[in-house]
Amino acid sequence: MNIAKHERQEPDAGGMRILVTGGAGYIGSIAVEMLANEGYTVVVYDNLIKGHKEAVDPRARFVEGDLADLPLVESTLRDNNIQAVMHFAAHSLVGESVEAPGKYFNNNVCAGLTLIEAMIRTGAKMLVFSSTAATYGMPESVPIKETDSTVPINPYGESKLAFERMLKWFDEAGDLKFVSLRYFNAAGASDNFGEVHDPETHIIPIVLQAALGQRPQVQIYGDDYPTPDGTAIRDYIHVEDLAQAHILALGWLAEGGESRIFNLGNGSGFSVKEVIDTACKVTGREITAQVGPRRAGDPPVLVASSEEIATSLGWKPKYPGLEEIIKTAWEWQQTHPLGYE
Ligand SMILES: NC(=O)c1ccc[n+]([C@@H]2O[C@H](COP(=O)([O-])OP(=O)(O)OC[C@H]3O[C@@H](n4cnc5c(N)ncnc54)[C@H](O)[C@@H]3O)[C@@H](O)[C@H]2O)c1
Repeated sequence: MNIAKHERQEPDAGGMRILVTGGAGYIGSIAVEMLANEGYTVVVYDNLIKGHKEAVDPRARFVEGDLADLPLVESTLRDNNIQAVMHFAAHSLVGESVEAPGKYFNNNVCAGLTLIEAMIRTGAKMLVFSSTAATYGMPESVPIKETDSTVPINPYGESKLAFERMLKWFDEAGDLKFVSLRYFNAAGASDNFGEVHDPETHIIPIVLQAALGQRPQVQIYGDDYPTPDGTAIRDYIHVEDLAQAHILALGWLAEGGESRIFNLGNGSGFSVKEVIDTACKVTGREITAQVGPRRAGDPPVLVASSEEIATSLGWKPKYPGLEEIIKTAWEWQQTHPLGYE
């Protein structure tokens, strides 16, 4: 590949110029909002396959396009003099990835490689990657640490790990620096943007849909786990805390920090029953739950340690408690019962 030399201009007074891939999606939209709040100049690149145009903060420029379209990614980076990329665009349904692995490797690895190529061609040298704790597979201990082994148990986790591994080699070649953030369940909403997935597979919006009467009940997959109440324990992080971690990672790279991989977790996690009980309390409504059998491959506890990012980048969640997280999600769900429609 010929890599054209590109003379970079100085950044605007508006701060660094960032491309956010997947910025019309759930986490990306809130990262864009927070970047704009902090004075960054933001361009959103999204093909709207899952995202929503209404979720793009009006302060950002929007380019509708696919990551696999190298000329468009390259011209978007070049024309906007982009210095760094936050990469959220991906497919992210675990079950679907098991049935259609090719779809996941194509988008999460091949299209991701196109993005890297475009960055190299235009001289954008910093990437913050939205990875996943699914890269670890079955945890060897909890809370999961960055040094634990990575043995994904589904193509989604494998595709994210493959992309991380590619990043390492581009770093060694001197092409870019990256921070990869591995986390489990994003949850909650900001004042303006929230979670709208179709299909919705995440427990908090599902439970709140049941509270709104949009679903008859909530399914609990197993209550015979070796946990205090028998239901599985999972890690939930408020979406604004996630976005803040991405912004801290950007700052780290902008100051010349080395490439790093960090976990984002909330320490002890919360059980499925705790989520449902807290949602009942927050909403003041009855939520019917039905207990069914365990799902294959679901471990009893999935919680990540964020000691490393707390120490290195000073990340401290603003919403460590489940009740605060669910309150913001409930606010969003009530004001947007049909999502962005
Ligand atoms: N939601 C979570 O709990 C969670 C947990 C861990 C990791 N992640 C990761 O965070 C990222 C964002 O997750 P989300 O929940 O906001 O997902 P989302 O589906 O709401 O957003 C992803 C966005 O990327 C866009 N997109 C996908 N493929 C694209 C392509 N080829 N070209 C251009 N745009 C494309 C979609 O249209 C969508 O707007 C994903 O990479 C996901 O793997 C999410």
